[in-house]
Amino acid sequence: MAQLWGGRFTKETDQKVFAFNASIGFDRRLFEQDIQGSIAHVIMLARQGILTGEEKDSITGGLESIRRDVEEGRLAIEESYEDIHSFVEAKLIERIGEPGKKMHTGRSRNDQVALDMRLYTRQVVLEVDSLLKELLQRILDTMEEHIETYMPGFTHLQKAQPTTLAHHYGAYFEMFRRDRERMADIYHRMNACPLGAGALAGTTYPLDREYAAGLMGFAGPTHNSMDSVADRDYLIEFLAALSMVMMHLSRFSEEIILWNSNEYQFVEIDDAFSTGSSIMPQKKNPDIAELVRGKTGRVYGALMALLTTMKGLPLAYNKDMQEDKEVAFDAFDTVRDCLELFGEMLGTLKFRKERMAASAMNGFTNATDAADYLVGKGVPFRDAHGIIGRLVLYCIEKGTSIDALSLEELQEISPDFQADVYDAISLRACVERRLTLGGPGILAMREAIERNRAYLMQEGCIPGQQAREDRPGAQGLEAG
Ligand code: ARG
Repeated sequence: MAQLWGGRFTKETDQKVFAFNASIGFDRRLFEQDIQGSIAHVIMLARQGILTGEEKDSITGGLESIRRDVEEGRLAIEESYEDIHSFVEAKLIERIGEPGKKMHTGRSRNDQVALDMRLYTRQVVLEVDSLLKELLQRILDTMEEHIETYMPGFTHLQKAQPTTLAHHYGAYFEMFRRDRERMADIYHRMNACPLGAGALAGTTYPLDREYAAGLMGFAGPTHNSMDSVADRDYLIEFLAALSMVMMHLSRFSEEIILWNSNEYQFVEIDDAFSTGSSIMPQKKNPDIAELVRGKTGRVYGALMALLTTMKGLPLAYNKDMQEDKEVAFDAFDTVRDCLELFGEMLGTLKFRKERMAASAMNGFTNATDAADYLVGKGVPFRDAHGIIGRLVLYCIEKGTSIDALSLEELQEISPDFQADVYDAISLRACVERRLTLGGPGILAMREAIERNRAYLMQEGCIPGQQAREDRPGAQGLEAG
């Protein structure tokens, strides 16, 4: 048991209490952020004359050596420490002695952990953003290739009107694009540095919070020290946005599963992305899509868990907040894995165009167009709707489709049908004439593809975000 406190205690911590309280089993993930935050803190302390230049050099040198040794496997993060902060500080003091004891001047673990978690989460926001961008690129590639791949569009999972694969994928492009916009929003709102908030009420040392914030690429410091250590809004917001990403992935997965089913046979998933059955030799299952759909639950779970943890907490820090990490880390890993694998699986899909087109042709998907045809001949839409309804009923009884009827049969139901009806209600015409902005017609689709292409050409995922290496102050950070 190794902890940073104990002066006011007369007994050792109970073993079980220590284990229950400890967070090193999971906050060890924050090792790099903890080092980075401590280096920035110490550079700022020296600049303010709170530490000497020598002390700063000794501490930053010690932190760098700990970082290197852990990275290169020479130093293990031992679980006998209460948390990652205790581990780093204890190792520092072990290595450099007296100056190491000054690192925590003007800081609390409350602002320290708030900083570490923000640094970590900020990086994940960027990663998710770029994974979303890759997924959008894949979706766009398929759109470009399948402007004329016809398929049925559904409402209530009943065939409704014909559309194209490009149009269907275009819907997902919009969803994941909005997901990226949410990443950018969250990034900007969370990009404030809590360091310097202390335990809750700031410190008596003359800290330069702006300077420390700048060293770590934050837009600036947070405004209220109590809020700084008590706030997990940014994490809740991010988990909500990740839940939305998963909801979109899950709907997409569900469609792939349907399309891959024996009944639809619209797509075939590559063998490398499918699994077999231990008993039924013929099976080839879409497990990846099913798992993505299934894992959506755990990301929603993380959101609900943290919302619930936070709801009754008085200001400022409470240990309850330590519970943010495991669920958040699990959600981060889940979303990254799902985005990556789902994208790769999409890349393997083989579309069975003839089956898709054949499916689009039956099920009366051209009924609306047949009604619109009569409107073109001067029949009011409501009457045309009734006429086509009767026509559909006639076809169902005969076991045929509207376009397979003879002109005489059509004219028996309405004299307004002429020979040009067959062209007007062909699959191609039904799609191509849907030129409303946002529709599946070729010209409308070309515009959508152009718009999407221009969007993906835009620089950088988060506007104004610089790579870690080119950030002002980053060199100072590395060098100490
Ligand atoms: N492990 C703690 C957490 O994750 C670090 C902060 C500890 N602060 C404290 N006052 N005990 O929240």
